[in-house]
Amino acid sequence: MDRSSRDDGATLFVVIKDEKKDLVTIAIRPEIRFSDRVRGMQESPTLAVLNRATALVAQGVDVVDFGPGEPDFRTPANVCEAGKRAIDEGITRYTNASGTKALRDAIAGRYNKRYGTKLRTENVIAGSGGKQELFNLMLALVDERDEVIIPTPYWVSFPDQVSFAGGTPIFTAVDAKNRFRPTFAAIEAAVSSRTRGVIVNSPCNPTGAVIEESELAKIADFCIARDLFLVFDETYELFVYDGSVHASAIRWFEKHPENIVIVNSMSKTFAMTGWRLGYAIAHPDIIAALGKIQSHSTSNPSSIAQVASIEALSGDDADVKKMYAAYCERRAWLVPALNRIPGITCANPDGAFYVFPDVSSFFGKGSIRDSGSFASFLLDEARVAVVPGAAFGADEYIRISYATSMERIKEGVARIEKALKNIV
Ligand SMILES: Cc1ncc(COP(=O)(O)O)c(C=O)c1O
Repeated sequence: MDRSSRDDGATLFVVIKDEKKDLVTIAIRPEIRFSDRVRGMQESPTLAVLNRATALVAQGVDVVDFGPGEPDFRTPANVCEAGKRAIDEGITRYTNASGTKALRDAIAGRYNKRYGTKLRTENVIAGSGGKQELFNLMLALVDERDEVIIPTPYWVSFPDQVSFAGGTPIFTAVDAKNRFRPTFAAIEAAVSSRTRGVIVNSPCNPTGAVIEESELAKIADFCIARDLFLVFDETYELFVYDGSVHASAIRWFEKHPENIVIVNSMSKTFAMTGWRLGYAIAHPDIIAALGKIQSHSTSNPSSIAQVASIEALSGDDADVKKMYAAYCERRAWLVPALNRIPGITCANPDGAFYVFPDVSSFFGKGSIRDSGSFASFLLDEARVAVVPGAAFGADEYIRISYATSMERIKEGVARIEKALKNIV
């Protein structure tokens, strides 16, 4: 038997000559067989327009980038110093997979101080971002055929995390006229015999909505009565505006730790996105389950980030206050400026650092059919990058992040206004 092969990079041709039968077989490299789990997963849809924007910037094009879901500020100096000290002192080895006791206690301590809770080390796990804890929570709590209710517009990863765990995301719309705030009535209407839990994110990415305490109380009571989980993601907890008050599900945690889970992160509050540190607060058994998953996947979050996070959580919040003041100023300018552009309707978001204007009045004009083509239009014609609302399950909208300087915000809005004027 004579065997040869030729590889043109994309395809492998294998030629087998069998002398007796004079047989020539050409086998083409089979497609890689991915698991159903991965095939069912979408790549983060926020990335498509942003990747194009990055490519343009690399070519030297001046793009105003309203895409980023991260603060434009540097990590506070005292936090960076703590990270540097950790390296110098050799704190560069594995730690407990669920995070050091010192960090877990610092997280518990911050909640105990703010809310008067009595959280202990066993109630806390630290991981490589809030995203990891959310992902692991779905793996730990959701089985095949379980349904998880997600108010829509939603943060992009929630549905995929539920699906990856084998569950089914059930979307329940929030009303823009109600400032996108989730309501108990809408969640109750989506409940079925298969419902396993609810995910609430407040303040919300992408809408900025801040849930009212009275609605959260009804949702929490309902989840407790039906033995459902309520995963409450408060990654943007400190960024609430105009007298709006952040209601946290931690209020129900101590009485009902089997049902309430809190997820939070260092990323947005302390401008620490790249350090990768987030955490969950839950029943010790849930924490142990998350720890088990973590011990077989990523192990501990970075030892250096853990030391830096203790400093951030325990040090003073002066830098956080400065960032907050900047977001307040930008938001106050941005919302009315967008509403002055004919065809754009922008609700005043109560929290986070995003606005979520309705741009559907432009659909059908020029090349614009939906939020994706609207975003492409802005990138091509205005050199402004935004995220299409379709990425968050709401195609009439776009997400604009104001985690960029006032100067760039003004420039970006001027460009959007000019480009939209010319469209027929
Ligand atoms: C609503 C929400 N939850 C969780 C996360 C995860 O943040 P990280 O993994 O950086 O802690 C993000 C990040 O964008 C977010 O917007």
